[in-house]
Amino acid sequence: MDGPQRRIDKLTSILDVAKAMVAQRDLDALLRMIVREAGRVVDADRCSLFLVDREEKVLYSKVAQGMGPSPRIRVPLGVGIAGATARTRRPINLPDAYADSRFNRAVDLSTGYRTTSLLCVPMFNTDGDVAGVIQALNKAGGVPFSDEDEELLLALGGQAASAVENALLHEEIHQLFEGFVKASVVAIESRDSTTAGHSERVARLTLALADAVERDGRGPFAGIVFSPDQRMELRYAALLHDFGKVGVREHVLMKANKFHPHELTLVEHRFDYARKSFEAESLRRQRDRLAAGERLDPVLMDEEAILSAKLRELEAARELVRRCNRPTVLPAGISAPLAQLAALSFLGPDGLPQTLLSAQEVELLSIPKGSLSPAERLEIESHVSHTYRFLKQIPWTRSLRRIPEIACGHHEKLDGTGYPLGKAGQEIGLEARMMAIADIYDALTVSDRPYKRSVSHDDALEILSADVRSGKLDAEVFRVFVEADVPRRFLEDGEERTAERAAAR
Ligand SMILES: [Fe+2]
Ligand SMILES: [Fe+2]
Repeated sequence: MDGPQRRIDKLTSILDVAKAMVAQRDLDALLRMIVREAGRVVDADRCSLFLVDREEKVLYSKVAQGMGPSPRIRVPLGVGIAGATARTRRPINLPDAYADSRFNRAVDLSTGYRTTSLLCVPMFNTDGDVAGVIQALNKAGGVPFSDEDEELLLALGGQAASAVENALLHEEIHQLFEGFVKASVVAIESRDSTTAGHSERVARLTLALADAVERDGRGPFAGIVFSPDQRMELRYAALLHDFGKVGVREHVLMKANKFHPHELTLVEHRFDYARKSFEAESLRRQRDRLAAGERLDPVLMDEEAILSAKLRELEAARELVRRCNRPTVLPAGISAPLAQLAALSFLGPDGLPQTLLSAQEVELLSIPKGSLSPAERLEIESHVSHTYRFLKQIPWTRSLRRIPEIACGHHEKLDGTGYPLGKAGQEIGLEARMMAIADIYDALTVSDRPYKRSVSHDDALEILSADVRSGKLDAEVFRVFVEADVPRRFLEDGEERTAERAAAR
């Protein structure tokens, strides 16, 4: 092939590579591509690439052929051949590198390589700044690099610089999102430290489940593929799914029993007061009866019996209050004794009869399951709407735009009984169905409250399968969750938790 034709072919190939480079957003893959193509264009044995870190005023290398997977070389600007190229903004073309005092032989010594010819060119970005340098070693045939090589490598370097800046920008945006998401997770978990790690575990479980669904490929999952962007979208949605809990008042979020601690203290003090009041009442009656001429012994015996009956009733009532205060499921038939509680009274400080419990307190104790009043339950459930509103404020990139919708679906149920929108069936996307299972599994198996015992892996699967049978959770997604053994294989602390549970038994 004659000279001009070869030159045209090489320039054409540089343009082809430029197109491929612009499409590559992964920086490491891009750098590997540039180094490979640079070597091909100038027939070099090896190539390396250094990027300029303007803040630190150094060159750093992420890829160098023959240097292992990830050499982390840092060279101050102006030092060595690469440093001199970056500082002078001019190519350096040496027929024999060892004859130039700027050449650092240490790399050759450490790798056993022998550099002869060397060509180092600056990579200019569109602003005309040096974004990095490309260094080619040992031209094929043992000849020096030519002026044409210099020109070709400069052309390739110019294209590469733009692609690298693109990829760096992309990486910066990614880092920005990562940083923002991590900071948000810290904010959620510092609000409620007992649920530490929940967001991360739900993200890990959901992504592992997505992989398993993709691998399964059966029935509704035929042809399901999650692209890297969709995976990132799913991960961020899972990490932020409970962010809205920052909008729920802390005493509601952390509520252990039906009464808040200060409410229970108030009730207990009232019972103590009632006890004193009964005793005082008894003494008053004794005084009146004795003053009326009754004999001491029968009066004492009578009053003793009356008072102890009253006190027994009071203490039984106190026990009932304490029992009903716990968030367990109330046994059937407990509403009658609770109603009787409301009728018990004593003489208050003003001398007027006062009930032991207010109607509101009795209503609270009558909550059949859990610790939350209907209003408090609504407040907890509002975390999903808060999550949605918060995530909607963020100008996500196009590939991440479904994050608010996915995150907001984790409490929806297939039978329409979920919240916040009461979506049903196909209205709930696959991502939210997967996240719902991951979320429930983690909430069940972690003891996130001192008063809440965690459930074993098998029991958690049993509870989930009951939800599948009642049409709340997706049967196929659950099948994959179980068949692929997602929780035990993909939760790093799985073993730790099993040990913790064994110790708790
Ligand atoms: Fe939630
Ligand atoms: Fe959650």
